[in-house]
Amino acid sequence: MVRDAEGPVAGATVRVQATDNKTTTTADGSFVLGLTTTTPVSVTAWAEGYFVGWISAVSGAGPVTITLKPYYTTDNPDYAWFSMEGAEGSRSCSHCMPAYEEWVEDAHSQSAVNPRFLTMYNGTDVDGNRSPPARYVYNRNYGFFPVRPDPDEPYYGPGYRLDFPNTAGNCATCHVPAAAAYPGRAYSVDPNQVSGIEAEGVFCEFCHKIGDVILDPATGLPYPNRPGVLSLRLYRPGEGQQLFFGNFDDVTRRVSYLPLEEESSFCAPCHFGVFWDTLVYNSFGEWLDSPYSDPETGRTCQDCHMPIAGYDYFVFPEKGGLRRDPNRIFSHRMPGASDEAFLQNAVAMTATAWLEEGTLVVEVSITNDRTGHYVPTGSPLRHLILTVQAIDGQGQALPQQGGPTVPEWGGPQAGQPGKAFAKVLETLWTEISPTSAYWNPTRVLSDNRLAPFATDVSTYTFDAPEEGLVRVEVTLLYRRAFARLMEQKGWDVPDIVMEEQGLEVVRP
Ligand code: HEC
Ligand code: HEC
Ligand code: HEC
Ligand code: HEC
Repeated sequence: MVRDAEGPVAGATVRVQATDNKTTTTADGSFVLGLTTTTPVSVTAWAEGYFVGWISAVSGAGPVTITLKPYYTTDNPDYAWFSMEGAEGSRSCSHCMPAYEEWVEDAHSQSAVNPRFLTMYNGTDVDGNRSPPARYVYNRNYGFFPVRPDPDEPYYGPGYRLDFPNTAGNCATCHVPAAAAYPGRAYSVDPNQVSGIEAEGVFCEFCHKIGDVILDPATGLPYPNRPGVLSLRLYRPGEGQQLFFGNFDDVTRRVSYLPLEEESSFCAPCHFGVFWDTLVYNSFGEWLDSPYSDPETGRTCQDCHMPIAGYDYFVFPEKGGLRRDPNRIFSHRMPGASDEAFLQNAVAMTATAWLEEGTLVVEVSITNDRTGHYVPTGSPLRHLILTVQAIDGQGQALPQQGGPTVPEWGGPQAGQPGKAFAKVLETLWTEISPTSAYWNPTRVLSDNRLAPFATDVSTYTFDAPEEGLVRVEVTLLYRRAFARLMEQKGWDVPDIVMEEQGLEVVRP
């Protein structure tokens, strides 16, 4: 029987702990579980709104009753985050859990202190040089409006605080969520001022205290004016209370099961961001609009970004961790834009080349066949650069006749045969594009990124030599941020080769 202080609990999941042997309680709270052993086993029970309860049971020993305790429904913003054995913050989880080492390598653990984030927030480069504050001019019809930075002054790239010196902005709601999670404080956190566990960014206990997300039922998306923590429901405990949410219904003591943790919506509040009226971050919305969001045949964010970890416990066995099905234990490394293997399994590229009269024709086809959202996604700084080079037997590049070229902002590849894939934003007043200062009003100038299952085909023509061999090299690069911005800021992030193909054509 499963009950709470009031009476029977119907629909509770009852399980022989850490096995697939499970059932559900009926309307009167009762259940029957077959046992194949005569040694005592732990039987767990969970229902929504309750901590996981348990009892030790022996086959044939008569009925058992598991009494469930509801968890608190309040949130206490003054809660001092978890610490244990003298360790503060997420390190206190490292004593018992292998997930810690993975999370240390995950960008979530750096989101508050990531130098690229902070240099963009402050308008500095990595050495601390700062661009001049934004300039404004006055016009009788429009009032004050911003103009481009003075070309005669040293410039270290844009910064939120250059344009808005007197406000903290919304950045902390996603990048420093624990500091922003106080009533009335969401837009007043300066990321330079945070310390302690708040500086751990998106940390263990923060994610595992999320009990719900707030989405607009009409769109399935977060409300545009509620970024990050403003769309999250936290369960921070009061004095003498404690609660962690997890993806198992049979983990006892201070734990409850949260099916939401296995759903993409869990990630939505921080992976969807509207600034003014422009959709800046939209990995969640892109996923929602794609076949990947089909509950039957699709895949969740976690399916791709939290793959099977490769071990069969989540608490070290010497710390009392139970052996479990390894297919249910997921990695917290969360691969993304700096993971070569991950990027090399994102799209498929095929190139073909042939001769037509005196012309070499190269056709390149790129399909987003394995990514659950646009490629690239996330920050609008990310883009792909495709280059097509044709080289004759003497090692000379053949002159391009037709087809696209890499845009002027394409860094070392600018002007070469090829193209870029990006969402290009332009600031409204200064008309700078591509802009990375998306905290200002901007408009989407162009967006040719690859939607899920979409194919892009581009064709290039070159003057073919009279005779002999022509080599064609086709390369697709992933670039974390616009080359000019990286130079201004002093960021040093090498491109990652996503796809590469070499072809040979012979003119008889
Ligand atoms: C970005 C949010 C996030 C952060 C940060 C995070 N987790 Fe998780 N964690 C999840 C989600 C989501 C799952 C469920 C994954 C699934 O079902 O695919 C999970 C699952 C788990 C599990 C169950 C076993 C497993 O790996 O599937 C444990 C234990 C766990 N997390 C511990 C930790 C610890 C310890 C840390 C910090 C070192 C941490 N988590 C940081 C979101 C997070
Ligand atoms: C509280 C806000 C928050 C939540 C919840 C959250 N993220 Fe993130 N995520 C971020 C921020 C902020 C970054 C950027 C960190 C940086 O680059 O400094 C990020 C970065 C990432 C990256 C890039 C990681 C890398 O190592 O390059 C991936 C992938 C990602 N998130 C996936 C997820 C998934 C999947 C979930 C849900 C299980 C999730 N996130 C939940 C805020 C969040
Ligand atoms: C079918 C697999 C798949 C699914 C589903 C998926 N992703 Fe991704 N994700 C990828 C791949 C592959 C990349 C690398 C290519 C790219 O950047 O688009 C990536 C990249 C990202 C990045 C960029 C990382 C960076 O460091 O810039 C973020 C953020 C991200 N995903 C978040 C999400 C979120 C949030 C969801 C769910 C709403 C999700 N992904 C669903 C495969 C997937
Ligand atoms: C709605 C949540 C949200 C808000 C608000 C937000 N960000 Fe982000 N930010 C993210 C996520 C998620 C990523 C990771 C996406 C990816 O990896 O492609 C990210 C990535 C970045 C990056 C790229 C970091 C890198 O290592 O390449 C920079 C820079 C950045 N954000 C700056 C800011 C600034 C400055 C603000 C405030 C003006 C801000 N963000 C507001 C969610 C947010």
